[in-house]
Amino acid sequence: MKNHRLHLFLRFVLLLEASLFSFACSSKIIPSIKPDRGLANTPPMGWNSWNKFQCDIREDIVREVADAMVTNGMRDAGYQFICLDDCWMQNDRVDGHLKADSKTFPNGIKALADYVHSKGLKLGIYSDRGRKTCQGRDSSFGYETTDARDFADWGVDYLKYDDCNLPSNVSDRDGYRKMRDALLATGHPIVFSICAWGFQDWMPEIGNLWRTTGDIHDQWDDVVNHVNENEQYSSRSHVGAWNDPDMLEVGNDGMTTEEYKSHFSLWAVMTAPLIAGNDVRNMSKETREILTNTEVIAVDQDPWGLQGVKVWEGGDGLAVYSKVLAGANKRAVVLFNRSAFPAKVTARWSDLGLPPGPASVRDLWAHKDLGNFQEAFQSDVPPHGVVMLKVVSQEP
Ligand code: GLA
Repeated sequence: MKNHRLHLFLRFVLLLEASLFSFACSSKIIPSIKPDRGLANTPPMGWNSWNKFQCDIREDIVREVADAMVTNGMRDAGYQFICLDDCWMQNDRVDGHLKADSKTFPNGIKALADYVHSKGLKLGIYSDRGRKTCQGRDSSFGYETTDARDFADWGVDYLKYDDCNLPSNVSDRDGYRKMRDALLATGHPIVFSICAWGFQDWMPEIGNLWRTTGDIHDQWDDVVNHVNENEQYSSRSHVGAWNDPDMLEVGNDGMTTEEYKSHFSLWAVMTAPLIAGNDVRNMSKETREILTNTEVIAVDQDPWGLQGVKVWEGGDGLAVYSKVLAGANKRAVVLFNRSAFPAKVTARWSDLGLPPGPASVRDLWAHKDLGNFQEAFQSDVPPHGVVMLKVVSQEP
C-alpha cells in the first residue's frame, strides 16, 4: 500500500517534471536536450546470444534466429532486437576499426544488419568501455567516436556496453557518458544498454537500461536473488530508462516449466527488458508459449512504464507483487510462492491500493476471466510458481 502511494506520488512528480520541462523547452528557457531521444519507451524486447551460445556465436546462427523469430511468433509478440554479445569481433583492430571475426561473421556486420532489418527486426551489438571485452576481444576505450560512427554506419540499433578491463583513471560515469555522447553525435537512434553489474545513481541519466545485478544463471535460486536485488531500485526506472535484472534464461533447461513461468512473470511485473537467451530456432511448445504469452508481455510493455513492487510478504517465501497499469484502478498482480511446497496466496485490494468493492480478475496464464471478487482474491500457487492476474476495480 505504502509502495503504491509512493508510486502514485512519483508518477505525479514525473508528470509535473515532464510538463515543466516541455514548457521550459518550448519557451526556450532551456534548449531541447532530451537525453533518451525517445528511444525505448517501453522496456526493450529481443534476443541475445550470450546465455545460450557464449563465444560460439556465428553469423549463420544469428540469421536463423531472425528467421525463427518471424515464424515462431516472437516478432509479432513484440520481440524486436537481435543482439550479438561478446566475441563477434576480432582480437585486434584493423586500421583503427573494430572488425567482425572473419571466420564466424564472414560477411561483416552491415550485411547482417541488412538481413535482420529485412525481417522487420533490429540489430544489437556489444562492446566494452575498457581496453578489452570480458572475453579479451578488442573494445572501445579511446575509440568511442570511431566505434559509435561505425555502429551507426552499419545500421546497428542497440548497444550493450560492458565493464571489463577498465583503465584506472576514468570513472564509471565518465566511461559510459563518453559512449552515450558518441552515440548521440551519430544522429542514428541506438538504444544504450549499460552493463556494469549494479545500479549507480547516474545510470538513468545516461542509459536506456542498466543492469542492476551480476550475471544471471539458469537456476531457481539465482532468479529469486535477481528479483530481490532488482526490486530495490523500482523507483529509479521510468519511461525510456529501465532497470535490467539481466537476460532471460527461459528455455535453457536448467529450470522447470513452472519456474520459467515464474521467471517470465516476475520480469514482466518488474517492467524489465525481455531479452530471450535461449535457442529460439529449436524450442519446446512450453517455452514458446511462455515467451509469446501476449497477456503477460502486455503487462511488461504497459505505456505508463511503472515498475511493479512487492505489496505483501508472508512467512515461508510467499509474496504478492503488484504493478499499476495505465487507466483507472488497474493492476497486474503476481501471487508468488518461492517455497518448495504448494501454498495459498491472497491478494487484498487494500494491499493493491484498489478501493473496496467488486473487481474483475483475469488469469493471464490460463487466459480466463475468473469473475468479480470483493476485497480480495485467493488462489493455490504451486511450489516455485506464480499465479498472474489482471485485477480491475469495478468501482466508478
Ligand atoms: C559480462 C556480462 C554478460 C556477458 C559477458 C560476455 O559478464 O555481464 O552479460 O555480456 O560479459 O563476456
